Amino acid sequence: MIPAAFARATIDREGAAGEAWLAELPGIIDELLTQWDCEPDGEAAHGQVGVVVPVRDDAVLKVSFPHPGNVHEPDAFEAWDGQGAVKLYERDDARYAMLLERAHPTTLMEHDEDVVVTAGDLHRRLRIPAPDGLPRMSEQADAWEEELRKDAAELDHPLPAAVIDAALAVVDELGRDQPEILIHGDFHPRNILRADREPWLAVDPKGYVGDPAYDATTFLRTRAAHQLGADDLITVLNHELELFADAAELDPERIRRWSHLNLVQSAFWGRRHGFGRARGGSQLDKFIALVDELAVSWS
Ligand SMILES: Nc1ncnc2c1ncn2[C@@H]1O[C@H](COP(=O)(O)OP(=O)(O)O)[C@@H](O)[C@H]1O
Ligand SMILES: [Mg+2]
Repeated sequence: MIPAAFARATIDREGAAGEAWLAELPGIIDELLTQWDCEPDGEAAHGQVGVVVPVRDDAVLKVSFPHPGNVHEPDAFEAWDGQGAVKLYERDDARYAMLLERAHPTTLMEHDEDVVVTAGDLHRRLRIPAPDGLPRMSEQADAWEEELRKDAAELDHPLPAAVIDAALAVVDELGRDQPEILIHGDFHPRNILRADREPWLAVDPKGYVGDPAYDATTFLRTRAAHQLGADDLITVLNHELELFADAAELDPERIRRWSHLNLVQSAFWGRRHGFGRARGGSQLDKFIALVDELAVSWS
């Protein structure tokens, strides 16, 4: 029942803890199926951290690796109560498990038309006052600032001081004081699924509190990764930023500023750790050069 690729990725990322959890996972799934009175109904799917087993004809069981980043997912679903996101039927926090409304397997990633406007519309529907007890993104502002200063000083990079200062200004002006709004936190096309009750529903939220324009940055980053080959990538992304802002009813300038911060952070991250698509060599150099160029153009 556990996809081999998911098992491999979990062990690669989590080591012995991943192995131990995988050994328990079939038993955990069995217990949850009994507890929630359902049976598997089809092949399990998975993402980076969770295994998703279709059960009954209207639900899926999602069990995630026990990681602090997965703690608030059910809180976000509970707050949305089905508006723009799949419904939460049951939760078992000790096991990092949820019984969720079932959507279709197709994600917005595989959809070719109106991807940006669809995502922007959905994002607008997800915007609600934050429930209590979720992590505030503003609490990360000090760490962002410290890391930016350290990276800018320690790493070999061509980013002009004004570009770094602009990123620090985003932390100061947008990062420290953020609205009390629930944000998804990992809003990208693979976490948006085709559905019947609404045309598209979000899954896999982190459940943060903060500026909704931050989610747009995550979305645009995946759009950039998806269109890396385009020679006019900057023009394309600028256009998509405007489209998203318009559909989501967000201020495009705010999205641009968050994106700028994210690009500068990515430029440094790539230098230290590489990217998922390129860990080293000339491919990594090419990505880093592109991120630098985008960071300068959006400063
Ligand atoms: N409610 C759902 N209905 C149908 N399929 C789902 C549902 N939730 C997740 N999936 C499937 O499982 C995959 C991974 O789910 P996701 O919640 O994004 O996990 P991860 O946290 O590991 O990224 C999705 O891409 C989708 O194919
Ligand atoms: Mg996911």
